[in-house]
Amino acid sequence: MKYKQEDNQFKRYCVTTALPYANGAVHIGHLAGVYVPADIYVRYLRAKNEEVLFIGGSDEHGVPITIKARKEGVTPQQIVDRYHEIIKHSFEEFGISFDIYSRTSSQIHKETAANFFKTLYDNGKFIEQISEQYYDEEAKTFLADRYITGTCPHCGNEKAYGDQCEACGSSLSPVELLNPKSALSGNEPVLKETKHWYLPLNDYEDFMKEWILNEHKDWKINVYGQCKSWIEQGLQPRAVTRDLDWGVKVPLPNAEGKVLYVWFDAPIGYISNTKELCGDDWQKWWKAKDTKLVHFIGKDNIVFHCIIFPAMLKAEGSYILPANVPANEFLNLEGDKISTSRNWAVWLHEYLEDFKDKQDVLRYVLCANAPETKDNDFTWKDFQTRNNSELVAILGNFVNRTLVLTHKFFGGKVPTCSDLTPLEKELMKEITEYPQRIGSAIENYKFREALTEMMNLARLGNKYLTECEPWKLIKTDEIRTATVLNFSLQICANLAVLCQPFLPFTAEKLSKLLNIPALKWADAGQCNILKAGQSIEKPELLFEQIDDKIIETQVEKLNATKRSNELQNAIVEAQKPNINFDDFSKIDIRTATITDAEKVAKTKKLLKLTVDTGIDKRTIVSGIAEYYEPQAIIGKQICVLVNLEPKELKGIISQGMILMAENADGSLHFVQPSTLIKNGSTIS
Ligand code: MF3
Ligand code: ZN
Repeated sequence: MKYKQEDNQFKRYCVTTALPYANGAVHIGHLAGVYVPADIYVRYLRAKNEEVLFIGGSDEHGVPITIKARKEGVTPQQIVDRYHEIIKHSFEEFGISFDIYSRTSSQIHKETAANFFKTLYDNGKFIEQISEQYYDEEAKTFLADRYITGTCPHCGNEKAYGDQCEACGSSLSPVELLNPKSALSGNEPVLKETKHWYLPLNDYEDFMKEWILNEHKDWKINVYGQCKSWIEQGLQPRAVTRDLDWGVKVPLPNAEGKVLYVWFDAPIGYISNTKELCGDDWQKWWKAKDTKLVHFIGKDNIVFHCIIFPAMLKAEGSYILPANVPANEFLNLEGDKISTSRNWAVWLHEYLEDFKDKQDVLRYVLCANAPETKDNDFTWKDFQTRNNSELVAILGNFVNRTLVLTHKFFGGKVPTCSDLTPLEKELMKEITEYPQRIGSAIENYKFREALTEMMNLARLGNKYLTECEPWKLIKTDEIRTATVLNFSLQICANLAVLCQPFLPFTAEKLSKLLNIPALKWADAGQCNILKAGQSIEKPELLFEQIDDKIIETQVEKLNATKRSNELQNAIVEAQKPNINFDDFSKIDIRTATITDAEKVAKTKKLLKLTVDTGIDKRTIVSGIAEYYEPQAIIGKQICVLVNLEPKELKGIISQGMILMAENADGSLHFVQPSTLIKNGSTIS
């Protein structure tokens, strides 16, 4: 045991959450994977009176931010200013209780990151390497991989990027592209030599083997497994600088146009934010051996937090290493991968508009469904069920019944507890165990299990009420009824404490209803939190039913996104060869009205229509039966090609053709004049 600190040595907790890129808003995937679990962990520690620091912030560097800025014709700073505010606000609204939420474009971060680099440089921790990279001679700049497009050598896609082909999914290096082009000037880039600094991760291989593979078998298996496969594949030197003009400048002479690689500067953001908040007092959070450092991240960040950042900290020499990195897998949405570019997400700011004051409902669902060990799926149906049959039917119902009965039978005052029956004695024993049971699940990053336990306490309360039936008991035994309600109220008070990490808004509301202050974890597990005679507030519902209509609206919103994505992706047919005016003038199209419609027997697609063309009334057979009910289209004005040669279809003579527009999904829609006009009018 050489590197790992043992759990009993820790006196304080430094908890970090991945810094989201400030080039888009945050969605349910972010919350479920990182911020809800981290917030539960931290709120629990605070309730235990532990010394804890909770760090968040925006990651404001990197190439995608510069690309977005170019697209919109604004500066990268304007992009990150916009999204930093949106993200910060969403987290606040959801009660993610950061001690600080700052950003990597701050001055203190730039200094901290540059100094960190300089220290490693001065101590000879980097190697310098010259490599050839694509350069745009007109724009006078080296090109990030994403700024180079060309033909994919694997599938021939002409719009592949320097790092990846989105058509076939291969990852590429820019020099593999055929016909490379610069996204800046459109010219062919040239290869030019450039110098960069590399962290020789290979030198840390033995350390990683010992520290992670031997000593950290306690990490989650998904995390441990990824580390193992990285380490066993052999670690390579990693460039920590880039040729780019957006980022933290490399603090060396002759390094113009070079910045720190975003994955070098971003994790240092945790340290800068600590400094920003704590001033001179920051070091204990990062350097004291009795501080437990825990990084909450998503699975795509594992290598950076388990291998690269620790290697940086180790190279620096005076920092502690993470004690744990409880990374989660991904959350999908209605069966599809969440995607910002396809707008396939439930955005937090939109949720807040549609579900005002229901932050805890989403926190609950995302925790109950957290992708802790495998990818998981968020569906609106499940959201509704968990709200209606868990929050409302179990937790809300128990609290509400208890409060209502207390008001009804005891004037809203906590009744006196007298002789305990074996039932209460058993219950009391159970209640004592909950804080420990929930706490230990949280300490082991098993947040779903912890949440289930919390709900089990409410289930226990419901069962107790159902067994004792105080609403009947009151008629025969007021003293016993008083004991039952006293006990039920004590369970409510326990819930107010124990639900607090998961459902902070509800905990506050419940505490107010019970007239108790925000209590500590140690206050739970007892049955004398509320004193007899103390009054409680009028009952108010903690949760409300979410009905089908509301869920349908959300599902419809997603379906609309899907349709619009499909339309955008559909290929528009190429134009047909030109015709001359004579060709065109042979075509006779008129306005007409459908006067009758019926299905053509034994066919799926055909309708037999009678139309008034202004010239005559005639029959037209049209292949629209999959899209229109006959009854629904009678009376519709349409356009008809009237001089199409008659043709027999299923024994019916069809005289003309109805003009239909075919949408990308194959559906057919009538072409109509924009206002009702006289039948038989010509269209040209
Ligand atoms: N911005 C990165 C992402 O969203 C996470 C950065 S975490 C930090 O994947 F450690 F670098 F801060
Ligand atoms: Zn390809």
